[in-house]
Amino acid sequence: MLFILFAGFAATASAHIASWNKGMYCKGGNETGIDNQNTNLAVDPLYDLEYEQWWQQRVRGCHLMPPPDGEFLELPAGKAFKTELANNRAFTTLSYDGELVSQWQDGKERNMPWRGVGNPPDCLMSNPDGAGGELHARSLETVGGTAWAISYESDIDLVNMTNLVVFSIHYFSPFFRETWYDVPADLPPCPEEGCYCAWLWIPDGCGQPNMYMQNHRCKVTGSTSTRRLGTPKPPVYCEDDLSKCTKGPKQMMAWNQASGNNVAAPNGKTPTYNQRMGFLPGAQNDIFVD
Ligand SMILES: *[C@@H]1O[C@H](CO)[C@@H](O)[C@H](O)[C@H]1NC(C)=O
Ligand SMILES: *[C@@H]1O[C@H](CO)[C@@H](O)[C@H](O)[C@H]1NC(C)=O
Repeated sequence: MLFILFAGFAATASAHIASWNKGMYCKGGNETGIDNQNTNLAVDPLYDLEYEQWWQQRVRGCHLMPPPDGEFLELPAGKAFKTELANNRAFTTLSYDGELVSQWQDGKERNMPWRGVGNPPDCLMSNPDGAGGELHARSLETVGGTAWAISYESDIDLVNMTNLVVFSIHYFSPFFRETWYDVPADLPPCPEEGCYCAWLWIPDGCGQPNMYMQNHRCKVTGSTSTRRLGTPKPPVYCEDDLSKCTKGPKQMMAWNQASGNNVAAPNGKTPTYNQRMGFLPGAQNDIFVD
C-alpha cells in the first residue's frame, strides 16, 4: 500500500533536495500541529525572490516552524556528522521507520555509475518519463557541491549575512542520500539555546538556476575551543585565477534572486560551493580570527 501511495507521488513530484535531520525547521511541513511524514516543502528551491522571501525560506514560513524544544543538529568538533539528502522526507529514516529508503535521494534502486547518456550527457532524471531532475546534474562529477553555515545567534531573527559563516563543504553532493560533512576542530560551543545552521546548495545547471537555504537549530559538541569566528566576506569567482579567491571566512552565496544577491559569476557559469568560488572541500579551518 505504501508502494502505491509513493509511486503516485513520485510521478507528480517536481522535487529538489533538502537535508533531512534532527534540528531542521519545516521537518513536518509548515502547518502548525501537523507532522507530515510525506512532505517535500523544505526541498522547494529559491529563485528570483526578494531578500525578505528567500532568506531562511521565509517565503514558505519555514522560519516559524522550528524543531521540537531541545532538539538540535549536533556538530561534533573535529569529526563529521551525517545528514540525509532527499527529495521528500518519505525517502529518509525520519519517516515510516525508514521503510522507503534506498542509497539514493528518491527511494529508488539504481547502480553506479549513474550518468546521463549522450555527449554531452543528459541531465539525470529520477523517472523514465523525464520527471524528477532533483539533482540538477549529469553525473557525480558535475554536481554543484553543498555547504553548511553557522551563526552563533540563537534567535533566528538575529541571524544575518555577516554573522553566518560557511564552515563545511562537500563537493560531490547532493548525490547519495547519506552524506557526511566535516566540522572544524576549533568550532567553539554554542549558547545554551543553540546556534543557527543553514544547509546550502547552488546547483550547476540542468534546470532552473536556483538556490537552496534551509534552517536548522544546531549545536557544537565535544568542543572547549575559545576561538572566535571572523566576519565573513562574500565569495568571489576565482576558477581561472586563484589569487582572486576570498581568503578566510566566507558568507553563504545568494544568487539569482530579485534582491540580496552577494555573488556573481561570468556569463554561463554558476557560483557553486566548490573551488570555483574559493571553497576547499571539508571543514573550513580558515574561518577564525586569531
Ligand atoms: C506554506 O507553504 C506554502 C507553499 O509554499 C505556502 O503557500 C504557504 O503560504 C505557507 N504557509 C505559511 C504559513 O507560510
Ligand atoms: C548582523 O548581526 C550582528 C550581531 O550578530 C550585528 O553586529 C551586525 O550589525 C548585523 N549586520 C547587519 C548587516 O545587520
